[in-house]
Amino acid sequence: MKTANWIAHFERNKKNRPQPDWDAPFRVPEGKRAHLARSLAEYQLGDGGGECRLVARDAAVFRGSERDMDRLVDLWFEEEREHSRLLSHAVRRVGGKFVTDTPAMRLFYACRRALGVQFELLVLLIVEIVSTTYYRCIRRHVGDEPIAAMCRLIIRDEVGHVAFHQNRLAEAHPEGVGALWRLCFLVLGLVCAGFLWVGKNGACLRALGTTRTEFFQSVAAGLRRFLRALARESVPARCLQPVRSLPTHVLP
Ligand SMILES: [Fe+2]
Ligand SMILES: [Fe+2]
Repeated sequence: MKTANWIAHFERNKKNRPQPDWDAPFRVPEGKRAHLARSLAEYQLGDGGGECRLVARDAAVFRGSERDMDRLVDLWFEEEREHSRLLSHAVRRVGGKFVTDTPAMRLFYACRRALGVQFELLVLLIVEIVSTTYYRCIRRHVGDEPIAAMCRLIIRDEVGHVAFHQNRLAEAHPEGVGALWRLCFLVLGLVCAGFLWVGKNGACLRALGTTRTEFFQSVAAGLRRFLRALARESVPARCLQPVRSLPTHVLP
């Protein structure tokens, strides 16, 4: 894949990042604040706050699969670490308590380690699509400009991450991914969304005013858009085109 283009994208994306005004007055009602405190603390750990790297036992295979791929992967995870940094400001703003470990995170890392790097990349892609909906719902309903501004920055990065996966998958499957792959992708995506919705993150979204229909329709639309865009890009003549600009299929 055009690793040089993606490296240029990540370097460019470090610029023009207006930071949220974390000192602005905070006026979120107590009921919503308490939910935000629990949810954002969990996200702060999950989105770049834990072991922020590919942890699969064969991660080195992917990192060494192309010239400069290791640099590209490092830049991707650098943005994830930046999400954790932004979220740590949000956790302090809502008076949350930082989380350093959860059973769910331990299980998540154990599966990624054991099941290999291709599975890990697929799971991370799905988490990024589902999380984009989470951040969009927070941005739409939170009623707090600094947290909404943080969500805009993170969504902007995740758009790039999803497009990166689209590009690498299109080149790995020039004839397109199979029906079984697409089915697994959709099922895993909806299972991941279900886990989010039944836990404290879903409780937070509901407290802010997100409906179940809004959440699941947004996730399903994100998953379907990804498959359509992947099918369009999985045309041999196109997949060798350099990346000039990000696809718009996942723009906020
Ligand atoms: Fe992230
Ligand atoms: Fe990401």
